[in-house]
Amino acid sequence: MNETNKPVHGMWTSRWVFILAATGSAVGLGNIWRFPYITGEYGGGAFVLLYLACIALIGVPIMIAEVTLGRRGGLSPIHSMGRLAEQSKVSRRWKGIGYLGALSGFLILSFYSVVASWALIYVWEAVRGLFQGMTALQSQANFEAMQANPWLMLGSHSLFMVLTMGVVALGVKRGLERAVEVLMPLLFVLLVVLIGYAATTPGFAEGVGFLFAFDFSKLSGEAVVIALGQAFFTLSLGMGAIMAYGAYMPREIKDKKTGRTRPVSIGSSVVIIAALDTLVALGAGLAMFPLLFTGNLEPAQGPGMMFVTLPLAFGQMPGGVLFGSLFFVLVVCAAWTSSISLGEPMVAWLVERGRGRGAAALLVGGAAWVLGIGSVLSFNLWKDHTFLMGTFFENIEFLSTSILLPLGGLLIALFAGWVMKETQARKELAMKSFALYMAWRALVRIFSPLAMIAVIAYAIWSAAHG
Ligand code: TRP
Repeated sequence: MNETNKPVHGMWTSRWVFILAATGSAVGLGNIWRFPYITGEYGGGAFVLLYLACIALIGVPIMIAEVTLGRRGGLSPIHSMGRLAEQSKVSRRWKGIGYLGALSGFLILSFYSVVASWALIYVWEAVRGLFQGMTALQSQANFEAMQANPWLMLGSHSLFMVLTMGVVALGVKRGLERAVEVLMPLLFVLLVVLIGYAATTPGFAEGVGFLFAFDFSKLSGEAVVIALGQAFFTLSLGMGAIMAYGAYMPREIKDKKTGRTRPVSIGSSVVIIAALDTLVALGAGLAMFPLLFTGNLEPAQGPGMMFVTLPLAFGQMPGGVLFGSLFFVLVVCAAWTSSISLGEPMVAWLVERGRGRGAAALLVGGAAWVLGIGSVLSFNLWKDHTFLMGTFFENIEFLSTSILLPLGGLLIALFAGWVMKETQARKELAMKSFALYMAWRALVRIFSPLAMIAVIAYAIWSAAHG
């Protein structure tokens, strides 16, 4: 049965481990940091609805495509794509999808570690009660003081990178699987506790209203592209993270009770992952907006919402030290399981080329750490060195998330929809419903590529018009 899968790296123990790992990749800073503030900026409920549509119509089909390519290929994205191109008798250049993904993963890892490490610093500050009784100006100054301190950020960036690559070095079973089995349940418990806490505050009703009241007058063409880009980023698509995780997904699994083997379905797993990811994003909004409204603070604060406005809110509320600390622990857990998935594809590739896992993780982590120093310095010493999109950090971020990821998504959709032999895709997916299969095929062939082109075009257009 395993004609293509040679488990070089090991396989997930069960379907649920795959779902947890992919959800761990998906749930990250995108959900807890970015989703609430762009929802704030684009006016709340109507934007949420738009985002949900993008998840269902673009995110889910492309994720299905990525998992399918991964499981069919059975290797790291680069080697999987090489293998699939061979099987489909097309140019080996399609392997470029793998290289492109490795490059974007590497770039994202470098700055993701820096931003995630702010949350690490904030755990420490929250525990010490630093936010208690802070004024708005003090909170802003506290955030700026952290960013102005390159040594502090270098230290926390280094620690976060060690945490990330340490798990990757331990391998699929002993590293990734164990990490997500501990961190994901912890994350869900923390989120429920924090929502419970938010529900006790006077601003809860207003917070809920803000998230779910549909004011369509606020929607614009721009909101559509932003929602699209967010749906795409939050599901970790376009760089091979999900493809790599798909390669470790078994085709069938033995039922412990009956002893019979059952096929492991891609479609339903992906729907569960997308639903969990969406629940966490909405949950993060539910945990945060009520606190802002309770403290008479603005939800449309931009990127500073989590690091400036929220600490302010925690500093004013009873139990703020405890719940503020828990909140930033939650952010660290979420970012950790995401950054692992950014490093895994490149490390798996190096392992397939004969390196030891430890050495490969050291190499990738070391290189991303060095590049990350550029992002650390973008907030202080290099702050005024701007070119193209702004600072070094802003350039790396723009190039990877606004250009390379949607480009990767476009190529993945084209490959799965047009290039790969239909019989192969159909066999790998093994969908029970033919109608659903046809819907997926139409979305991935036409709709997803057009959406990706729109995202890239908008990014370039907005870059050119400042
Ligand atoms: N999805 C993660 C988040 O929302 C970020 C992330 C991890 C990612 N791996 C990725 C994004 C791969 C794109 C591609 O924070």
